[in-house]
Amino acid sequence: MDKFLIKGPCKIKGNVYVSGSKNAALPILASTLLFDQTVKIKNLPRVKDIETMLNLLKSLGSIIKLSKNKKSVIITKSKNKKVFASYSLVKTMRAGILVLGPLIAKYHKAITSLPGGCLIGARPVNYHLSTLKRLGMKYQIRKGYIHANSKGKLKGTKIKFSNISVGATENSIIAACLAKGKTILKNCAIEPEIKDLTKFLSSAGAKIKWTGKRTVEIEGINSLNSASYSVMSDRIEAGTFCIAACITRGNIVIKNIDPKVIQTELNLLKKMGAKIKKSKNEIYIKGPKKLKSLNNIETKEYPNFPTDLQAQLMVLLCRSDGRSTITENIFENRFMHVAELRRLGAKISVKENKAIIEGGTSFQGAELMSSDLRASVALVLAAMVAYGKSTINRIYHLDRGYEKIENKLRKVGVNIKRIS
Ligand code: EPZ
Repeated sequence: MDKFLIKGPCKIKGNVYVSGSKNAALPILASTLLFDQTVKIKNLPRVKDIETMLNLLKSLGSIIKLSKNKKSVIITKSKNKKVFASYSLVKTMRAGILVLGPLIAKYHKAITSLPGGCLIGARPVNYHLSTLKRLGMKYQIRKGYIHANSKGKLKGTKIKFSNISVGATENSIIAACLAKGKTILKNCAIEPEIKDLTKFLSSAGAKIKWTGKRTVEIEGINSLNSASYSVMSDRIEAGTFCIAACITRGNIVIKNIDPKVIQTELNLLKKMGAKIKKSKNEIYIKGPKKLKSLNNIETKEYPNFPTDLQAQLMVLLCRSDGRSTITENIFENRFMHVAELRRLGAKISVKENKAIIEGGTSFQGAELMSSDLRASVALVLAAMVAYGKSTINRIYHLDRGYEKIENKLRKVGVNIKRIS
């Protein structure tokens, strides 16, 4: 298993180019199952989860033609479509559940593995199932698989999500595109990745209209047209590099990112003392000499502070000038990085879903273990400013969501090496 060797402390400087968003690309790729025509998706990040989703689509009968640089793909329907999404593919990437909506909408039949949990939480899919059921899907769960079918087309209806769920919103919007009649979904998640999905589907002729902050209306159609679409940039990667500039007192320009999608995060970093200049498609950020602590940070649904940047912000707060608190409201077990940060010298106490972070920590290099995708990158940030050498094991977690992060970090001055 690959690991990273990092020698700190360092100060980053230069330009960073953000890759395409994994969390926008995954639902967009899953939705290509709705199409009879050819679809071209560009600006894909070269990360493990995208490779897994493409393999899943292949197993369902899609013909996948990946470009040489693996950043764009042409997907065409083959004659032998399949409706079985196997556990072997879905277990490593929970977003595999996103093929359920398009399979049911298109083929009125699907056998998809339950995703299974991961380290950050049980990852149930009850909201996905209850909403698709409201659209006319019948299902039984047998031996870890969802056996689903519908009597002909799904039927549009009015649904209000009991809780906000990114994946359930995506699955339902995708399914409603081919349903009979109009579907109105209320209390939707509105992450930028979901808007990217609806922009893609609309570009292929889907009739989707956002009629309220969290309300979307979809008028079902018979079939979608061919489309070519470039996936949005990864706001979590951009946010991670903004935090890297702050933690190393460096200064960088982050290219091809729309600052609007990380406005909340930028406001927080400004409050901590960062100097930030924004333009249409890039962010200039300079870390302050002294970082101010932050109280009562809560992770919530967009447009609030995202759970996917919680671990990274926690590392930064260890270096601030006082005590900070973070409450994790989205996932039930997303503090695995705390134990590892303590090995570097962090003083963090956790009570249920609340973490209290003492500032003024100077990290000492250590041997570390990655746990989930975002916790792993938090360990990289800590190792970058730790005194001495750190080893980060099991970085396959990182490779799931960050495209060759070591190359990007080396380019801005980090002493980092991948040991295979
Ligand atoms: C998406 O996961 C992202 N994944 C996650 O990013 C992100 O952390 C999360 O949204 C929140 O923003 C992708 O987009 C591929 P949810 P998702 O449904 O869709 C519970 C990363 O690091 N829930 O909004 O699974 C759920 O357990 C990943 O890239 C149910 O109880 O998130 C969680 O506690 C990690 N029942 C909360 O709701 C359901 O049917 C929010 O989940 C669905 C979700």
